[in-house]
Amino acid sequence: MKKVRVAVLGYGHLGKWHCQKVEAHKDMAEFVAIVEKFPAGQESARINHPQVKVVSDIKEIINDIDAAFVVTPTSTHFELVKYLLENNKHVFCEKPICSNDEEGKALARIAADKKVVLQVGHSERFHEAWEKLKDKFAKLTPPYTVRMNRVAPFKGRATDVDVVQDLAIHDLDLVLHLFKQKPLRITAQGQKIRTNNWDHANIHLALEDECHVFLVVGRNAVKEMRDVEVISKDGMMMVDLFTNKIFEATNTKYEDGTFVKDQDYSKRDHLLLEHKYFYDSVLKSNPAIIGLRDGLNAVHLVDCTLKSMETQKTIQVNLG
Ligand SMILES: NC(=O)c1ccc[n+]([C@@H]2O[C@H](COP(=O)([O-])OP(=O)(O)OC[C@H]3O[C@@H](n4cnc5c(N)ncnc54)[C@H](O)[C@@H]3O)[C@@H](O)[C@H]2O)c1
Repeated sequence: MKKVRVAVLGYGHLGKWHCQKVEAHKDMAEFVAIVEKFPAGQESARINHPQVKVVSDIKEIINDIDAAFVVTPTSTHFELVKYLLENNKHVFCEKPICSNDEEGKALARIAADKKVVLQVGHSERFHEAWEKLKDKFAKLTPPYTVRMNRVAPFKGRATDVDVVQDLAIHDLDLVLHLFKQKPLRITAQGQKIRTNNWDHANIHLALEDECHVFLVVGRNAVKEMRDVEVISKDGMMMVDLFTNKIFEATNTKYEDGTFVKDQDYSKRDHLLLEHKYFYDSVLKSNPAIIGLRDGLNAVHLVDCTLKSMETQKTIQVNLG
């Protein structure tokens, strides 16, 4: 295969960006189709991508593609990913890979004997900050505490799911990606403010070696905040994901006499990188950079969080 023949499923808020990234990788991808269920989206897809076939159902083009980007609402991911896998297609699925553990188990069974790439869109892993701090995070002396914030004023999007599936999943995945100590238990509380789903959540993860994560996510906040702070006996590291800045305060003075050092890091196009990794994996038969197991573990932490919010009990984590 010289180029991957692809379709983008869902021409909504994020699907439009995925279509642009397919076009930006003309050397590796051939843009075959956009699958959009509703006429208004189809019309806008035809105007913006006149050279691409626009259809309403994946079944119409399944034999013309090697791979698909699933960028439809979360509740549709399971059926679409299942169908693509059953037809031996490579899949990039936006986060979350599916809605709950039960669906995850079924997907794992179907994917087990398939020789295809399945990449999950946990785009927050692509911040340059993590590359700059990876070694320091790996050497953290337990016990340490992590505080994470991801809150924003109401935007009216993704109200078909709650704030845990929509926002907290980014940070729950980052906990698994960034820290050596794994989650053991989750205790969470939530508020339904504007929708019938959880709009705000306070989540506590007890990690191995007496480490802790305190995560706050909300979609009805007074201002936008996205940051991660790590505190151990060696000092504090803080990443502002909104302004792309890293702050560090160790347990000694810096050479210039100050106690806090800050540095900027580059803002990158995460989606563009995700596309490049995906085509690379398909064309070179490499494993996905973020695979099914990562996707399922993040869904499991979401499930535990929701269970805790619903029952007001602490839930044991059981990662695969
Ligand atoms: N990685 C990230 O940072 C990030 C950011 C935003 C959204 N997302 C994820 O992307 C997904 C889509 O989010 P969005 O904000 O673009 O949603 P959206 O509602 O704006 O768009 C979804 C589109 O899919 C279409 N659709 C629904 N069912 C379909 C089907 N069976 N076949 C084809 N089209 C169908 C809808 O008509 C709509 O146009 C969600 O799962 C969300 O969690 C990820």
